[in-house]
Amino acid sequence: MDDIVQLENVAEAQARMLPPIAILAELTHRCPLQCPYCSNPLELERANAELPTADWIRAMNEAVDIGVLQIHFSGGEPTARKDLEELVRHAAGIGLYTNLITSGVLLDEDKLQRLFDAGLDHVQLSIQDADAANADRIGNIKDGHRRKLSVARAIRKVGLPLTMNAVVHRQNLHNLAGLIDLAVELEAARLEVAHVQYYGWALKNRASLMPTLEQLQDATATVEAARERLKGVLTIDYVVPDYYARRPKKCMDGWGRRFFNISPAGKVLPCHAAESITGLQFESIRDYSLAWIWENSPALNLYRGTDWMPPLCKTCDQREIDLGGCRCQAFALTGNAAETDPACQKSPVHDIIFDIAVTDSATGAPDYIYRRLGGA
Ligand code: FES
Repeated sequence: MDDIVQLENVAEAQARMLPPIAILAELTHRCPLQCPYCSNPLELERANAELPTADWIRAMNEAVDIGVLQIHFSGGEPTARKDLEELVRHAAGIGLYTNLITSGVLLDEDKLQRLFDAGLDHVQLSIQDADAANADRIGNIKDGHRRKLSVARAIRKVGLPLTMNAVVHRQNLHNLAGLIDLAVELEAARLEVAHVQYYGWALKNRASLMPTLEQLQDATATVEAARERLKGVLTIDYVVPDYYARRPKKCMDGWGRRFFNISPAGKVLPCHAAESITGLQFESIRDYSLAWIWENSPALNLYRGTDWMPPLCKTCDQREIDLGGCRCQAFALTGNAAETDPACQKSPVHDIIFDIAVTDSATGAPDYIYRRLGGA
């Protein structure tokens, strides 16, 4: 009987399926930075497990066939791959919009010019803080901030549009106004101010990173004022920390709905953190076509749409708006990925995570547990 119900759910999920529009191509987990909020999975793939160039090229061709329009080259640090230029050239040649998400520290003007000539459309550059010493401490890298600023200027010099990504937390929020000024100075068209999301590695550093409620309120006011002041100059995207939220975010615009990740080893994931949910098996493009995986992967179908939802969510009038929030967060905080996202105020554990945030944010500043290939 359970099998029949499961089959009906899969059929329902497939019937509601839309074509994907974007891929996050995680080319490698290698990275010169060691950020305490790294969004890569707990188990990093080593270089010898990475997909070869030919497999990435095949994956891009298959992605276009199923409707994908954009590719975001990410990592780890995607510029650590020697074939990045070739991959960008191929992606641009088959009509994909190409975006590079990078820490920048392995780039220079010459490499950027070659990527631009290969057809790169856009760069997202991470900046850890406006204060150089604190930025280098967060990424655990010598001279990283100075190199990033020089790369930001080179990005604009070769004519590429720039988005600056700033992950914010208790140990850099005091410089948020400086980060906004820096984005303007570097001629970024867009700034993404994203509070740390606490799953995967960031969960280990929650006590070091969680902002106080007062910091969060100040940050929100700073962003709102800057949005008003910088209309037409800088667009600011803002992601709040779930622990202080009342409503869950529509994570990834819905599980397996419009986006997917391909991991360095070729696994197709609904989001960067999905492997933190134990017990799920994700298929690899080494074994199946992308079209088959998108339609048939049991893991992608598991939380598609609304049929999988627990009764609390299924009867909620917001269910089509947030699609149940974040499955990885539900798993991290309740041990069950099919539970209501605790970021929702209707969740029975919502008050508990608010209390955790208040307690964590009141601790001193424990040393970061840095992210390293092979462990902390
Ligand atoms: Fe995986 Fe939100 S990060 S569903």
